Amino acid sequence: MAKEVKTIGVLTSGGDAPGMNAAIRAVVRAGIASGLKVKGIRRGYAGLLEEDIIDMDTMSVTDIVQRGGTILFTSRCKEMTTPEGQKKAADICRKHGIDGMVVIGGDGSFRGAQKLSANGINTIGIPGTIDLDIACTEYTIGFDTACNTAMEAIDKVRDTSASHERCSIIEVMGRTAGHIALWCGISNGSEYVLIPEREKENDVQEIIKKILSKRRIGKKHHIIVNAEGVGNSHAMAKRIEEETGIETRATVIGHIQRGGNPTCRDRVYASAMGARAVDLLLAGETNRVVAYRDGEFCDFDIDDALAMTKDIDEHLYSMTKRLSR
Ligand code: ADP
Ligand code: F6P
Repeated sequence: MAKEVKTIGVLTSGGDAPGMNAAIRAVVRAGIASGLKVKGIRRGYAGLLEEDIIDMDTMSVTDIVQRGGTILFTSRCKEMTTPEGQKKAADICRKHGIDGMVVIGGDGSFRGAQKLSANGINTIGIPGTIDLDIACTEYTIGFDTACNTAMEAIDKVRDTSASHERCSIIEVMGRTAGHIALWCGISNGSEYVLIPEREKENDVQEIIKKILSKRRIGKKHHIIVNAEGVGNSHAMAKRIEEETGIETRATVIGHIQRGGNPTCRDRVYASAMGARAVDLLLAGETNRVVAYRDGEFCDFDIDDALAMTKDIDEHLYSMTKRLSR
């Protein structure tokens, strides 16, 4: 028979993402509405291991649905990757009466969730990362906001790039994932997108050829979107300037993309995922991750979810090339 859950905990872990607060609010409010006690674990697994645990009530999540960041703070925690740390984390949950846990984060955080579950704490993951690099889901909390932030920043760079008839390389976040770069490449009408998933196609010589051919047909400025993980944007700018004679500047947008008020989509989907995580705990489920696929919210076993792989959307990628000819 499924273990009855009476008190649940919620934590955020790994890189923060706009919309995490909306998810926390949904977990707390849905939990309380279903008669559960809710505790907030501050600073992710590090805070759990240090027993940085607070009681949450309706008012502790008021006025946060619109705020970026995470009111619970987040961290990266080495100790949680050890079997001793994982057992200690589960024992601390038991000590505080926490029999269900919601972990909001990325794949790394889900590995921690998997271990909590294996150590007897019913645990559910919610995908929170601006990188969209969680294989089981088409949506992750924060991606939509991060794309909109980067898109607006690139629009601004385009204004000055056009005034000076320059080439601009704009670096967006994504150490191992090019989803933000790809979406900005399309929404900002860039001439070239460089993404880690298509390493062989990240050829600076090809970019140079393209810039020169565009100049010949009257283009006066150029926008190149580079994902963080591909290579140094400043070095690339220097080489393009040297080889084309066109003034080139690199702009690294950076952590601005991780902050700011979440978009409507991020608030709504994060809320739906938070409520679903609570429903799963109420149903006695454990070791599952909430996801969004084919237009519906759903959930997967964490082991299966972590075994899945995800590529860049090839249709979108080839389309950027077609549209930037
Ligand atoms: P994300 O969740 O965004 O992928 P990280 O990869 O940094 O971010 O992981 C966040 C945290 O999850 C790590 O600091 C660590 O505490 C925990 N974690 C990562 N990998 C494991 C693992 N294999 N086992 C247990 N916990 C892990
Ligand atoms: O949140 C995801 C991400 O922005 C990645 O794109 C990037 O590689 C990483 O986080 C950087 O995180 P931090 O600066 O916190 O180490």
